[in-house]
Amino acid sequence: MTARLTVLGAGYLGITHAVCMAHLGHDVLAVDTDAGRVDQLNSGRVPIHEPGLADLLRSGLDSGRLGFTTSYREAARHGDVHFICVGTPQLRGRNRADLSQVNECVTTLAPLLDRQCLVVGKSTVPAGTAVRLAGELVRLAPAGAGIELAWNPEFLREGHAVADTLAPDRIVVGVTSPGAEKTLRTVYARLISGGTPFYATTPATAELAKSAANSFLATKISFINAMAELCEAAGADVTVLSEILGADARIGSAFLRPGLGFGGGCLPKDIRAFMARAAELGAGEALGFLREVDAVNLRCRTRMIELTCSLAGRNLSGAPVCVLGAAFKPGSDDVRDSPSLDVAQILHGMGAQVTVHDPVALANARRSCPQLNYATSALEAARGAAVVLVLTEWPEFTRLTPAELGGVVARQCIIDGRNALDPRLWQDAGWDYRALGVNARGPERSLADQGAARHSR
Ligand code: UGA
Repeated sequence: MTARLTVLGAGYLGITHAVCMAHLGHDVLAVDTDAGRVDQLNSGRVPIHEPGLADLLRSGLDSGRLGFTTSYREAARHGDVHFICVGTPQLRGRNRADLSQVNECVTTLAPLLDRQCLVVGKSTVPAGTAVRLAGELVRLAPAGAGIELAWNPEFLREGHAVADTLAPDRIVVGVTSPGAEKTLRTVYARLISGGTPFYATTPATAELAKSAANSFLATKISFINAMAELCEAAGADVTVLSEILGADARIGSAFLRPGLGFGGGCLPKDIRAFMARAAELGAGEALGFLREVDAVNLRCRTRMIELTCSLAGRNLSGAPVCVLGAAFKPGSDDVRDSPSLDVAQILHGMGAQVTVHDPVALANARRSCPQLNYATSALEAARGAAVVLVLTEWPEFTRLTPAELGGVVARQCIIDGRNALDPRLWQDAGWDYRALGVNARGPERSLADQGAARHSR
């Protein structure tokens, strides 16, 4: 059944949600206050790098079921269900969420709501936000108690946003009435009938589901990176340890890739906002471990700097350093809290001549760190380098060969910031290969290789 939806906020989440809801057959109007962005989207251009999104945007626009506007008034007229998809970044200088965009969205929309409708929050917010906003809506909307609020957290990953929205692991809705649940079941009917599990719960549980999921993922990453520190101390190899742990089905290998740790616009700020909210609720102790998760993660960056200094002979001043990767992860052009760019900036601050290359995030990196040098190819970035750091595991970097890079660098030193290269390939070619959590004398043979060797015997 077709529903009339609006999507408030055309950022990462909002564009993806609007485009995918139109693809599912709904009639969607998305709102953003940035007129330039709205024009861009209405002409079929996607302002972010996200595989598959541009095609769906164009087919949505062509179908007449998708449009973008700057007018909340138009949105209020159009929608029976309004999705709040604005950002909740970290508050500047504080370890908590900045809810100003969500608050503004509600206070702008509410006075325009003169008929019954459902407002659905998708943005990541601290537990308790939905209840507060529900009260605001009823107070400010001409339709009063006819306006209901639900919370429907989003679990999509950048780089997989379309697939994660059209084939999610689960749909979670926090509702306060059977009517709201029914409306959301209608919106997601095609996904539910395709087998996606649907959880209807309270708004507080729905809000917590998102914060808890991101905290768990961050904890897994920091756990393996803490093990990397231990491996260095004990002369062990974290890549092999990670394989061994991941082979236990109860642990699982996902999010157990050791390296430079997590960044981006979600995991770092979400664990901090979660801790802040827990403290406000008087349950701060319960999330004390997340402080360590954050600390281990930030230590990855410090350890990477130390490793670079040790390879460059401790004196970074004027040392030509090549950084491959600026995006916070491959498949994305997002440089928010990017570990790679953070390391590049610190090395630059220490006097190194840093040259960065990234296949899609160059423009964003340039805007956010104009002080760094940028190159339009990996080989150009590596020309004359005393050390090459692979900090985002783009396939074009992991495919580079020792011979290709060897032809342009000044010294054959490579730091594999994501444990994504084949150490033996580089060592056999005479390179000084280093990685966090891997013995400097060279890594052990991976378990998979040993298995393959056993089978081939
Ligand atoms: C994350 C969550 O995975 C999504 O489920 C969630 O919806 C999203 O945040 C959000 O809150 O909006 P995303 O930020 O796109 O998604 O990125 P991830 O794929 O989770 O990666 C986060 C960081 O962890 C990256 O910097 C990545 O390089 C790093 N990572 C990931 C590791 O260092 N090791 C791993 O094993 C996995």
